[in-house]
Amino acid sequence: MLLTGQAVPFAATIDPAFRHDIIEGLSRSPKATPPIWFYDRRGSELFEAITDLPEYYPTRTETALLTAHGADFAAAIGTGRAVVEFGAGSARKTPHLLRAIAPAAYVPIDISGDFLHASSAELAQGFPDLPVLPVVGDFNGPLTLPAAIEGMPRLGFFPGSTIGNMEPDAAVDLLRAMRRLLGDDAQLLIGMDRIKDRDRLIAAYDDAQGVTAAFNLNLIERINRELEGDLPIEDFAHRAVWNDGKARIEMHLEARRPLHFHVAGQCFHMAAGETIHTESSHKYGARDERLLLRAGGWEPATEWVDAEGLFALVLAKAG
Ligand code: AVI
Repeated sequence: MLLTGQAVPFAATIDPAFRHDIIEGLSRSPKATPPIWFYDRRGSELFEAITDLPEYYPTRTETALLTAHGADFAAAIGTGRAVVEFGAGSARKTPHLLRAIAPAAYVPIDISGDFLHASSAELAQGFPDLPVLPVVGDFNGPLTLPAAIEGMPRLGFFPGSTIGNMEPDAAVDLLRAMRRLLGDDAQLLIGMDRIKDRDRLIAAYDDAQGVTAAFNLNLIERINRELEGDLPIEDFAHRAVWNDGKARIEMHLEARRPLHFHVAGQCFHMAAGETIHTESSHKYGARDERLLLRAGGWEPATEWVDAEGLFALVLAKAG
């Protein structure tokens, strides 16, 4: 328990990048914060819970595609590649792919070291002959791959439609960076969520049990805990909105009444109904997918889509 006047280890524990992004995002009009800050321990747990929700079709559909098309992946990708997974997280879907294509090495990349080492150790148990070489890092920044995969052809693996959480220009920059990192004979297997019925999309981001609402609101708890914030969490509402012009679901935190609060010593105001835009999740048509990949330096080769056309796994070659 902290007592008044007690020294608070604020400056020592605060993440300057988190503070910068939140202060900058709350100072903008309209207010908007980057979605990477959802994923503290609680946020990562809530995201895992989201992936099991009946309304959240992407994980289930992509996993079914990975399970069903092993023989196709083996034929299209071949064996003996180094698989480099971007934002590996719990890597729950990865064993299906690894079993199908018998890679020479597996390099999971994730910003959260604890999470990465735990999931890598678990995966290595199931693949005792496979070199598992985790890299702790932000795939949006400069990365160095392990020397052990030098000279091996690579397969980038970017599941989950995480690409959709980026603005189109940032998505193109990331695809280009992956192309440079992976080399000339690389391939990329990427999950991309399809445009579909608006109600189905909204339900996936505003579920009946309120897990996605808790995931969104957890950002406020994190700001209050880590940035000396005093945002009244009960005065914010979770909103999921389909932006048709930009083909994306947007998550917002809406002020239920006029609010005044502080973060890291700075004062902020919100009018009733004003929102903080916390995440965009872009959805793609078949042509949009190809356009985006080509702009990012990849030539689409094959794609696998479920019978309902909900989600696509696209295999592309370095262009
Ligand atoms: C991680 N990402 C692909 C998820 C998505 O669907 O955009 C994050 C998420 N946000 C709310 N629900 C899931």
